[in-house]
Amino acid sequence: MLEQNIDIINQIMDKYQINEKDKSFIWQTIYPIFIYPEFQRRMNIQEFAHHDQISLGYHIISDAVYTFKIAKKRNLPTNQTKTAIIIAMFHDLYEFPWQNSKQTKKAFINSHALVHPLEAAINASTWYPDYFINEERAKIIIDGVIHHMFPWPVRAMDNLPTNLNNEEKFQKLNSRIKNLIIASSLRGKIGHLSLSHSKFIEGQIMSHADKVISLVKDISLNGLKACITGKNKKIENHSRKR
Ligand SMILES: [Fe+2]
Ligand SMILES: [Fe+2]
Repeated sequence: MLEQNIDIINQIMDKYQINEKDKSFIWQTIYPIFIYPEFQRRMNIQEFAHHDQISLGYHIISDAVYTFKIAKKRNLPTNQTKTAIIIAMFHDLYEFPWQNSKQTKKAFINSHALVHPLEAAINASTWYPDYFINEERAKIIIDGVIHHMFPWPVRAMDNLPTNLNNEEKFQKLNSRIKNLIIASSLRGKIGHLSLSHSKFIEGQIMSHADKVISLVKDISLNGLKACITGKNKKIENHSRKR
């Protein structure tokens, strides 16, 4: 399985015409995140379909590769490019496959489209604590993940319960990380939502890459509709064929 998933990543690199030197830089950055079992689960389209043809992992890696391309074009220094790629690797690590799921039967204010960046920030800091030791780096990564959907808003972690699928994990995080997540989600608060792009260039570049990948390169009308309705017929058909 791991071999197959490595092949998929190499195919994505070829799709975006990444040269050998850049390929090895991207591999070095993503590999420690990619090999973790929770990431490998998300490479499996049967369990985590992003839309009808691709897995969530495929989407995340496509974003990471495209983030690299934008960062290179903008001459972003190496360490910032790495951080931007790491934000891409973490940005959609939400808890459950959400399409066609009972989890979608939540109030709109706590729907997947609005809360998944919070779940991703919580899962990333739980599964990959080493990336969150340095205070400044933790702040940039968390803010990038939380505001990756801009200009779509994210749920503010205010006094109205957020009903997260990984609430227990959030409670177990140390208070420094909890506070960074809460503070980032309260920036640009309007009602119970936060509408703001990331404060940092690394997050802004990643968010831009996510739009290009989702709305241009790998667009799926069923996938976009599913963001609103939570249902994706194509995925039902896909699993029926198995
Ligand atoms: Fe997302
Ligand atoms: Fe995404």
